[in-house]
Amino acid sequence: MKTTELLRIAKEAINKSYCPYSNFHVSAVLIGENGIYTGVNVENASYGLTICAERVAIFKAVSEGERNFSKMLVYSPDGMPYPCGACRQVMAEFCSEDFEVIVTNDQEFEQFTLGELMPFNFKL
Ligand code: THU
Repeated sequence: MKTTELLRIAKEAINKSYCPYSNFHVSAVLIGENGIYTGVNVENASYGLTICAERVAIFKAVSEGERNFSKMLVYSPDGMPYPCGACRQVMAEFCSEDFEVIVTNDQEFEQFTLGELMPFNFKL
């Protein structure tokens, strides 16, 4: 699927972002073998319970039975939403080194592999 199409889906999802504390809206679009899964960041008054858009998308997909992923686009209109360390570790649980991550704010587009974002990741 083309980046422009992924961005279109991400822009539709961004309206669901729940970020009253940071006001930093993020959406993620994840391509799995059997479908496309979206996620947004969901914040909490206790701050630490906040979950990022990337993990919401991955957990939604895994809980639907999906295990094979090829690509994720992460979008924010508020800045470049480089995935945090926790999200990179969760990606590493399910995705291979060649999993692609596109990060964009709709002006800049950067593309990475998971191997670049999370080298020497921990797995059992
Ligand atoms: N956030 C994400 O959802 N994904 C990222 O890649 C970067 C950060 C969220 C977490 C929090 O709700 C807000 O952005 C500010 O950190």
